[in-house]
Amino acid sequence: FHVDWDLETAEKAGFDHFMLKEIYEQPKAYRNTMMGRITDDGKSVVLKEIGMTAEQIRGIRKVHIVACGTAFHAGLVGKSVIENLARIPVETDVASEYRYRSPIITPDTLVIVVSQSGETADTLAALREAKRCGARVLAITNVVGSSVAREADDVMITQAGPEIAVASTKAYTSQLIAFYLLGLFLADTIGTRDAAYVSEVVAAMGELPEQVERILEHAEVLKQVAESLSKHNNLFFIGRGVDFAVAQEGSLKLKEISYIHSEAYAAGELKHGTLALIEEGIPVISVITQEDLYEKTLSNIKEVKARGAHVLALVNEGQEEEVGKSVDELFAIPKTLPLLAPALSVVPLQLIAYFASLARGNDVDKPRNLAKSVTVE
Ligand code: AGP
Repeated sequence: FHVDWDLETAEKAGFDHFMLKEIYEQPKAYRNTMMGRITDDGKSVVLKEIGMTAEQIRGIRKVHIVACGTAFHAGLVGKSVIENLARIPVETDVASEYRYRSPIITPDTLVIVVSQSGETADTLAALREAKRCGARVLAITNVVGSSVAREADDVMITQAGPEIAVASTKAYTSQLIAFYLLGLFLADTIGTRDAAYVSEVVAAMGELPEQVERILEHAEVLKQVAESLSKHNNLFFIGRGVDFAVAQEGSLKLKEISYIHSEAYAAGELKHGTLALIEEGIPVISVITQEDLYEKTLSNIKEVKARGAHVLALVNEGQEEEVGKSVDELFAIPKTLPLLAPALSVVPLQLIAYFASLARGNDVDKPRNLAKSVTVE
């Protein structure tokens, strides 16, 4: 693919679909989302858009992350980021559940709503419920002036640029970048992480755009994988920790544009029932980037292999040889900090979904039954 990196036009800029253009815009979206939010010395995060004082931030006792669909999947990574960096307990909810479950919201609760469009009815209703209960609301959204942006107390704009395809890609990964920045900002303010660690993560974030570009250069490999997967009607995505969060996003991408049924499962949970569905030849995509969970996930891969699954593993560069012994296919992503891996590991899954949809002859940018923003319940 010839890629002209200045993709600001509303056209497809030489791509066959908006979704592919938006997948290729991700390096630029990462840079734009980080722009103005990292100090000049490149060592820490500054979020001018957060109106809370340091004292208010130190007074946060719990965080609720509320969103729908892909934005919810970004919130799953956001939970790990905020708990790991700022040591504040985080609950995640899909907005359609949150708004009706009488959530326990106290004045020391920070409610974070995530929405690309900023117009999703359930998410907007959740925001209003949180405000009614006296919580501080922070919105992560891609649309300046959207309803969510106007009604939240603080707003982080993801700077991904207009996202046209129904299937969200660059908005999702820009939401991840926003969560990394927010997590670092909270940790720095509260003091749960020292300056050296914060600057190490900031430096690693600076590498992400170029690392995504390296993944995109291998799109052809993923096209082959997707074309063989497109012949199946059922498949699984498995992972642990943030790899499980990314597996859930990969599964939704595949379902919504290729119409192939898939399910993301916590790798360690398969043996409690779902393993009964693993039969000869069923594809299983395993996301295995987390060092501390590597051995456990590898044993789950062997578990499904032993029952006939055809396994594709997404691994870190450097682990190809070892993991290669236990799987049928693998795709290596550049090495980054474990917490940042989702910003890379999701890209091959986006491309697999895109090419599988193409192989099935679907309308990639406008899949059946779906709308870009669900502004009704
Ligand atoms: C994701 O690919 C879908 N288009 C859908 O799940 C979407 O993420 C969801 O409807 C939330 O939309 P929002 O981010 O605009 O609130």
